[in-house]
Amino acid sequence: MEWTQENRYRPYHEWSDEQVKELKTKVVASCWRLNYHIQPETGLLNDPNGFSYFNGKWHLFYQSFPFGATHGLKSWFHISSKDLIHWESEGLALEPDSDYDSHGVYSGSALPVEEKLFLAYTGNVRDEAWERHSYQLSAWMNREGTIDKVEIPMIPEPPSGYTAHFRDPQIIRYRDVYLMVIGGKTIDERGHVLVYRSKNLVDWTYLGPLELNQNLGFMVECPNLLFINGKVVLLLCPQGLDKSVLEYQNVYPNTYVLAEDYLIEGNYLKNSTQQQLLDEGFDLYATQAIMAPDGRCLSVGWIGLPEMDYPTFDEGWAHSLSLVKELTLKKGKLYQYPVCETKLLRKAREDFVLEPTKQLRKSTNNCYELQLTIPENCRGQIQLFSDKTSSYALTLSYDTEKGMIQLNRSKTHYPLNPAFGEIRESLIALGEAVKLSIFIDQSTCEIFINQGEKVLTANYYPVENQRELVIEGTKNIHIIYYSLEK
Ligand code: FRU
Repeated sequence: MEWTQENRYRPYHEWSDEQVKELKTKVVASCWRLNYHIQPETGLLNDPNGFSYFNGKWHLFYQSFPFGATHGLKSWFHISSKDLIHWESEGLALEPDSDYDSHGVYSGSALPVEEKLFLAYTGNVRDEAWERHSYQLSAWMNREGTIDKVEIPMIPEPPSGYTAHFRDPQIIRYRDVYLMVIGGKTIDERGHVLVYRSKNLVDWTYLGPLELNQNLGFMVECPNLLFINGKVVLLLCPQGLDKSVLEYQNVYPNTYVLAEDYLIEGNYLKNSTQQQLLDEGFDLYATQAIMAPDGRCLSVGWIGLPEMDYPTFDEGWAHSLSLVKELTLKKGKLYQYPVCETKLLRKAREDFVLEPTKQLRKSTNNCYELQLTIPENCRGQIQLFSDKTSSYALTLSYDTEKGMIQLNRSKTHYPLNPAFGEIRESLIALGEAVKLSIFIDQSTCEIFINQGEKVLTANYYPVENQRELVIEGTKNIHIIYYSLEK
């Protein structure tokens, strides 16, 4: 199938059952399918949407193009879970079938309101001249899971001075009103986070761009305003951010800003910090977070990046969602760590103490969790997805004396967008011990430093014989290995 514009935007009902069946057969045969990460049944998954707790369950939707691994006509696919770990498919939820979303049901959020779940999203429309139009739309899901779209857009056009790149509404409760936080691009190509206020989720008042005093590139996608212990965390995806503002290597970074408070009077963040990278790895974008009813701030991100190529494209599927992480603030720093429920995945545990002159070489099924404590002033490396001779592997090197962690994915049969670099580095405290938590799942990997002080997320595509884990270091290292549930 050639992904012409026509094929990418073909209405859903024009795809035959045979075509879908053929695609499924191809996807099932892929050796890179994941065991415990959320992945599309077929086609392409991107941003997490509508993350919420409603009617006794967690709900999550994601951007989906179900008919192939390309960014085609998007919809929201719905999954639900009792424990944030085991997810069930609830099927297609919001299809691009109205005049306001004919060319894509784009990203957005969900908020439980009384007996229903309120869904807010962007309707993407292309007119005859293929000019873009964006509408901020809404829908209600009842307890039975039936979704009714609201016919009239919440916001029918971008505010004056802004282009049709105006999308990804996050709706939150703030004091006695609702706020909508949304990404936008000005006519002179500057990225902004825009804020609206409403009493009834129908009539929205524009408050203006959020005052941040910093450059946000030419466009901001997927902004999220969060309140953790009275402090503010703003997540965002600035596109085209100047590298003198923030050093990054991925095509677009997912960043965050911390602030003491959000003040609706004046619509600004009080004492906000400069942006920092939310993830220092290769493949994380469009993180969505919610203030859950149990008091936790929970996030989930898209493991994948826009505009990049991945080898599963040839297998009819692409991308996954990260583990659900809890966001916390400790001593003024943001931490992100898989929710405690992630332990439900653990099966057998093995403990090792690795001595300096030795090497741990273990055959695995590329589905495991590692917990390691690296002592101070220790150097070494961990080879993930390694073959027998370590000619191919995803290599994590560490040096606690120099305070350096490095992830290198150049030793591979499937180079991933090498023009954007094949090494990522993360700085840690000099001369201190470091804890590493590593989650491996067939073709993806999430690495957490010091219980979430830093995170590196990366896809890596091993071939059949790349199933070994190799660890070495210059001091005694305590290693815990858990095989994880399929
Ligand atoms: C981010 C994004 C959003 C948009 C969606 C479309 O990855 O570009 O801004 O709503 O994906 O799928």
